[in-house]
Amino acid sequence: MSLVANRPSPSGSHAYLELNGITVSFPGVRALDGVSLQVRAGEVHGLMGENGAGKSTLLKVLSGVNQPQAGSLHLEGIPHRFINTRAAIDAGIAIIYQELHLVPELTVADNLMLGQLPNRLGVLDQRALIQRTLDELQRLGEHIDPRTRLKHLSIGQRQMIEIGKALMRNARVIAFDEPTSSLSARETDNLFRIIKALRDEGRAIIYVTHRMEEVDALCDRVTVFRDGKCIETFDSVAGLDRHRLITAMVGRPIADVYGYRPRPAGDLLLEAKGLMGPGLSEPASFAARRGEIVGFFGLVGAGRSELMKLIYGAARTSAGHVELGGKRVRLNSPRDAVRAGIALCPEDRKQEGIVAIASVADNLNLSARRHFSRAGFLLDTRRERSLTQDYIRKLAIKTRSGDTAIGTLSGGNQQKVILSRWLAERIEVFLMDEPTRGIDVGARAEIYHLLYGLAEAGRSVLMVSSDLAEVIGVADRIIVMREGRIVGDIPKAEATPDELIKMALPR
Ligand SMILES: Nc1ncnc2c1ncn2[C@@H]1O[C@H](COP(=O)(O)OP(=O)(O)OP(=O)(O)O)[C@@H](O)[C@H]1O
Ligand SMILES: [Mg+2]
Repeated sequence: MSLVANRPSPSGSHAYLELNGITVSFPGVRALDGVSLQVRAGEVHGLMGENGAGKSTLLKVLSGVNQPQAGSLHLEGIPHRFINTRAAIDAGIAIIYQELHLVPELTVADNLMLGQLPNRLGVLDQRALIQRTLDELQRLGEHIDPRTRLKHLSIGQRQMIEIGKALMRNARVIAFDEPTSSLSARETDNLFRIIKALRDEGRAIIYVTHRMEEVDALCDRVTVFRDGKCIETFDSVAGLDRHRLITAMVGRPIADVYGYRPRPAGDLLLEAKGLMGPGLSEPASFAARRGEIVGFFGLVGAGRSELMKLIYGAARTSAGHVELGGKRVRLNSPRDAVRAGIALCPEDRKQEGIVAIASVADNLNLSARRHFSRAGFLLDTRRERSLTQDYIRKLAIKTRSGDTAIGTLSGGNQQKVILSRWLAERIEVFLMDEPTRGIDVGARAEIYHLLYGLAEAGRSVLMVSSDLAEVIGVADRIIVMREGRIVGDIPKAEATPDELIKMALPR
């Protein structure tokens, strides 16, 4: 038996999965409001929409995590109601979540069996099942040894194990929730190749993303959500006008997402002199002026985040130092850095950043509060409250109020809270590691606007980004890194996509 039953799609345009009038409410929030959606076998169906639009909630309905208060779900014309995740798995639905649900300490084989009913299979059967699954992955071009512990695999390979689990259960519907956010360019290409292969085998694929390039590269059709409603399904992606798509998502046209505002550069502010440490292969030197946004472009693993950590005192320098306004700064810890006026907004905000059960306001004010109490101020709750309201409005953070637990916000909205936390600090140099990852296009424009504001107020911003269009669209200057060293420093006027990519690729 092949796990990947090569059933041809029932018919070119018939829906394999059909949702009608799905409504999901949480206290005070209607996450999905009468959503209807049809997904065909043999298509990759993109889902787009603002942070908090209801995309992940829809996937949780499919996976049996959320039970809708109204609406119906049909698979091949047969009605289903998933009372739990088991029911959804048995019906052939698999979800690849962004945070992978695997256990790092266990082996690949153990992880594959995770969630299978115990004793349903004999040991021999189990082994055969695992082997068949890995053979399927191998056929898709992914070689993985079942005895490897998961922690030794890259994020991309771990994702393949999740896909393997879907294959093992012979899932006919596979949904991905922003799967590329922690993948390198090469891993992303590989994932796309595999998703297309799964589609061509006649599976129905749902693909949630904020990135237009991914829709172009992968999706056959795309549906846009806004405020819990399905706004429009575009039946063809080829030649789809971006402006139409953005307008459907945000509810208003955004002519230029980047909205670049040129400004004169001021005095020298930050200087890295021969900085060396973990993740770098050569001492790094560069400078940033007041009013400058310096982009750091490179492939994942080029050493950009590592360089930021050195400047932030979060990693130990083995040589070199940092000067701020011509004075050498002690950077033995992030605490030193913040005190000196340097802040890092880390790449992995979800893991490093939030206290899930605390409120939006508490999360937002965490570092500001540290700052005030250390400076000997009493907590100023009124100031805190107005700051919270300010950022909720500015970044359009979708939350009932400042008192809502941050863990119940959508992924992108949690990111916005963490970002505002740093903007609220009295900081001179902002180190931003992938500041718009997972953030929708409307809020992105707001964030860029905020960065320009910081620069106009005489601050320096160092922005690490793997999004080429973003780096070119937002930065005044672009430093390119490759394999742990700085290989270029290019003014905006001279930066072209081809040139940047050529410099960033390993030799
Ligand atoms: N368990 C929950 N309790 C309360 N509210 C929730 C819960 N889960 C989701 N919500 C709310 O439902 C709405 C939709 O959230 P959802 O996670 O589906 O958005 P999303 O489209 O996936 O956004 P993002 O692009 O940011 O990931 C949000 O307002 C969110 O705060
Ligand atoms: Mg989501």
